[in-house]
Amino acid sequence: MNQTKNKPRILTGDTPSGKLHIGHYVGTLENRVKLQDQYDTFILLANVHAYANDFSKAEKINQDVYDVYLDNLAVGIDPKKSTFYLESGIPETFELYTFFLTMVTHARAMRNPSVKEEINYKKLDPSLGFICYPILQAADILGFNANLVPVGEDQLPVIEQTREIATDFNKTYGETFIIPEAKVGRVARLVGTDGKLKMSKSGHNAILLSDDEATLKQKINSCYTDPNRIHADDPGKVEGNPIFIYHDAFNPNNEEVNDLKQRYLTGKVGDREVKDKLFVALNNFLMPIREKRKYYEDRPELAKEILIESTNKARKVVVETVERFRDKVGINKLLNA
Ligand code: TRP
Repeated sequence: MNQTKNKPRILTGDTPSGKLHIGHYVGTLENRVKLQDQYDTFILLANVHAYANDFSKAEKINQDVYDVYLDNLAVGIDPKKSTFYLESGIPETFELYTFFLTMVTHARAMRNPSVKEEINYKKLDPSLGFICYPILQAADILGFNANLVPVGEDQLPVIEQTREIATDFNKTYGETFIIPEAKVGRVARLVGTDGKLKMSKSGHNAILLSDDEATLKQKINSCYTDPNRIHADDPGKVEGNPIFIYHDAFNPNNEEVNDLKQRYLTGKVGDREVKDKLFVALNNFLMPIREKRKYYEDRPELAKEILIESTNKARKVVVETVERFRDKVGINKLLNA
């Protein structure tokens, strides 16, 4: 692994709760792939975060870990450049978390817009772990002293809370943590195939990075378009129309997209043609991703070996941070002779 000491650092990852979709790609995965040469990159499989959603689903969480890991490998995060790790493999993170919990008021935790939005969206009766997940996330990030955190737009308030914790700690105990920046991808929030504001891992409105051709075809064919357009010669709406939003995000042929838009606006093209061309574009995009996924699916031992080795490597970074943290707080001297 070619970690260079003077490169700035990225820490990011996903809560394993289902397969990743094309919204994750434009929201964060693409940034991870692009930036892995410039940054010393750590990709976390946040399995402990997953328990905050439902602690009784341990077996499912373990499967989900594998899916999220494969999805990240499949889009081109190169384990020779980036370090994958399993959150539960670095218990020192939870020591930071315990201290950070004492630094955030109850009212502040309840005010986090990411938490509030998720509670409403998923209609949760949230556990304390869920309400405090941004504080665990702060421990993930600050444990690595990361400079940059590529995330989807929905996670911006979480990174804000991380920055607050780092700033408060530095003010009280002296410069210890780097204040990390968030980085959102080129499409902040990708609309779902049902026209809902957001593609969702848990919902049925997502095009997955691992979907095969037949599934992709079926999802595109049943994708929501312009509900007011009944006949192919009715003028249609392009703005806010999922099939055009996907064309804009994934069809590299701008000329084709502009031509389709013009004809759609003037009632000179049917949904079928727009969807067929979208299928071709998305299928071309997904083909190499499916192939790389299969490479690792066929080599589960290799994938596991990489994860074990890189988790051990990542842990060393956090162990160092926590050691420094204990010194700053002053608890080390209580037990040191
Ligand atoms: N909460 C993030 C999500 O659901 C996952 C996550 C956990 C994360 N820890 C992190 C992301 C640290 C960035 C940095 O997507």
